[in-house]
Amino acid sequence: MTTLAQTVAGVRARLAEAGIADAAMEARILVGGLLVLSATEIFVGGDRLLDAAEIAKIEDAVARRLKREPVHRILGRREFHGLDFLISTETLEPRPDTEVLVDSILDHVRQFGDRDIRILDLGTGTGAIILALLDGVPSASGIGSDISADALNTAAENARRFGLEQRFQTVQSHWFDKIDGSFDIIVSNPPYIRSDVIPALEPEVRNFDPMAALDGGTDGLAAYREIASQAEGFLKADGCIAVEIGFDQRQAVTELFEAAGFKLLQARQDYGDNDRVLIFAKSVFDVAKQKKKLGIPKEAG
Ligand SMILES: C[S@@+](CC[C@H](N)C(=O)[O-])C[C@H]1O[C@@H](n2cnc3c(N)ncnc32)[C@H](O)[C@@H]1O
Repeated sequence: MTTLAQTVAGVRARLAEAGIADAAMEARILVGGLLVLSATEIFVGGDRLLDAAEIAKIEDAVARRLKREPVHRILGRREFHGLDFLISTETLEPRPDTEVLVDSILDHVRQFGDRDIRILDLGTGTGAIILALLDGVPSASGIGSDISADALNTAAENARRFGLEQRFQTVQSHWFDKIDGSFDIIVSNPPYIRSDVIPALEPEVRNFDPMAALDGGTDGLAAYREIASQAEGFLKADGCIAVEIGFDQRQAVTELFEAAGFKLLQARQDYGDNDRVLIFAKSVFDVAKQKKKLGIPKEAG
């Protein structure tokens, strides 16, 4: 018979031997996730004996991790902005850096008071961005759109899990093609990695994240080009559009949006201090006034 503590230690040793960084943390997340135990329960319940079915489940998961499948994909879920999101084959695992995009928008939403807010999330994946926003803003409703039907099913299931399904709709669409209406806020974390960089990514990303979520075309900007060129017709006069970007894309993406009639309201950095989020408003709108209203310092962006 094996105890929980022995099992966690054994998993940690095998992951470390395979060169997986943070093996101790991953072992705890993997075993805890599979047995539905919190970090504290793992810590205090080390003497618990595991049965054969539990051990088989853990063995299967470790074999997958040793083939470089990411822990959260093995578990089928990942926490994002305090919500436990289901992940599926065609969804990206939501990343902590994307929480910066959510927090930036939550800061801005104050300007709208209690009025109904319509949000569009292009390339919604698990629904991470829009569902975190709907969770934080009770007067908001919106659409999560994606090219992938599998992703939209997962986003709809996540909305049900969080009790947000009444305020959330999915639309299968290539960017704006099947979208109707106008929105206070448009958000997108589109695929933005240059095609030639993808083979050099970590196997966890290149072999397990869906290619449609990664590949931004030859210069990494294909999705921004399409989104920027059409966004104007879908945004209310005082609305804003926020996009996540790669660490070196601020200038190129800003130029694309400026060429399409937008002005940069704000740029935000991620936890590693890289440029990660750009927020634009229609340039016909008084951007200085907009910044004042939103509490954005004049020099920001
Ligand atoms: C980087 S992932 C972002 C997923 C999610 N929003 C997040 O932040 O975790 C990009 C998403 O865009 C979707 N996508 C790719 N090409 C698309 C297209 N032409 N039209 C609409 N969505 C697309 C992908 O399926 C994927 O879900």
